[in-house]
Amino acid sequence: MPNVDEFGYGKVAPVEDWASDWDYYNAQWSNDPYPIWDDLKSKCPMAHSRRYNEGVWLPLTYDQIDLIAHDTLTFSSVHNGLSAGGFEERPKLPPIHSDPPEHLDLRRAILPFFSPKAIEAWRPHVTAHCEELASAIVARGSGDAAIDYAQHIPVHAIASILGVDPADGNMFRQWIINFLVHGPLDVEVRDEAMRATSEYMARQVTYRRERSGDDLISHLIGVEINGEPMSDDLIVRILVLQMVAGIDTTWSSIGAALWHLATHDDDRRRLVADPSMIPAAVEEMLRAYAPVFVNRVVTQDTVVDGVEIKEGDSVFMTFPIACRDESQFERANEVIIDREKNRHVAFGSGIHRCLGSNLARLEMNVAVETFLRHMPEFSLVDPEAVVWAPGQIRGPRSIPIVVS
Ligand code: HEM
Repeated sequence: MPNVDEFGYGKVAPVEDWASDWDYYNAQWSNDPYPIWDDLKSKCPMAHSRRYNEGVWLPLTYDQIDLIAHDTLTFSSVHNGLSAGGFEERPKLPPIHSDPPEHLDLRRAILPFFSPKAIEAWRPHVTAHCEELASAIVARGSGDAAIDYAQHIPVHAIASILGVDPADGNMFRQWIINFLVHGPLDVEVRDEAMRATSEYMARQVTYRRERSGDDLISHLIGVEINGEPMSDDLIVRILVLQMVAGIDTTWSSIGAALWHLATHDDDRRRLVADPSMIPAAVEEMLRAYAPVFVNRVVTQDTVVDGVEIKEGDSVFMTFPIACRDESQFERANEVIIDREKNRHVAFGSGIHRCLGSNLARLEMNVAVETFLRHMPEFSLVDPEAVVWAPGQIRGPRSIPIVVS
């Protein structure tokens, strides 16, 4: 394994017993969690841990996740991160941290910008950007499919939708890494990233108040909730969420797809020969390598699958584990790129289901299609050099490849 000390695994106590002391901030979990999940499924209905909070539950089935995601009264989204700081007060990012009834209006404020039609209009822009990135790798004959390609695509897309300078992307990427990758263990780093992102967005809102455009920021300035415009503070927190939710998630999924295609020649060659298979393959790779875990806080004592869950406990929303549940997906641990029935929950389930799923799908499809068109044959330089990041968003952060 490459040197991944930078993630701070050394600061975390090793896991002796996954059923009673599971941890997502663990190198084994980050690099290859599937044997851990399979073993847990054979041992208990849910795993438990006292890390991050007195009681943190780990659901292990699709049905548990589906039930919990739909019971927003018992399972609140008010704290959706698990970190060393516990549940201390932090800025709320609507609508992901909002419970009903506030949630609906806040979600509706953003929705028009992410409708299928609105997102489709971005296809040429995203394609042109992917072309540029792919051509640069081809010209060099080698590169890093995560660092030189996947990372850039969502940053560029979301900057364009917000109406800010895509050249600010390097800053965005560093804030996101500090927030989501280093933040769980180091609350100062996390809070500093949140402060910097918020200040940046506040400056953009001020700018757009004077020079309105057809971007998301101008749109939010014009939205009214219950007849009142939203405050700058609320708009800033909504905008920060677009970065936190829209960047690392998508680059993880694009990266995982390219890693899969670098390591599975048959699948890659089938997609090269017949690109019309790419949308189904993208859905399958979203399912198999679903990147997102979020937390819920329990508001009242309850029982799920015979497990007694207490008020104040946490439940880690294991959408990626639900996506590999054999009761829903035949041969769930296999990637079947032409899988027909694929009602995966990589984008979540219930009222918080991903608001950016149309954009994420567009970016993934264009990214895979463009990459394969420019590089029908590519492979890993060294499988041991691939790094999967820890954190609530799991994905490969480095995928060195060579183009044949
Ligand atoms: C492959 C990429 C993505 C994946 C796998 C993903 C996954 C998810 C998941 C699992 C949730 C549910 C969270 C919960 O239950 O609390 C969610 C919510 C959300 N996502 Fe995504 N996401 C992706 C890309 C995006 C993009 C590109 C955007 C927008 C730029 C976005 C914006 C949001 C927002 C705003 C929410 C909160 C919705 C609400 O609370 O009503 N996501 N996403």
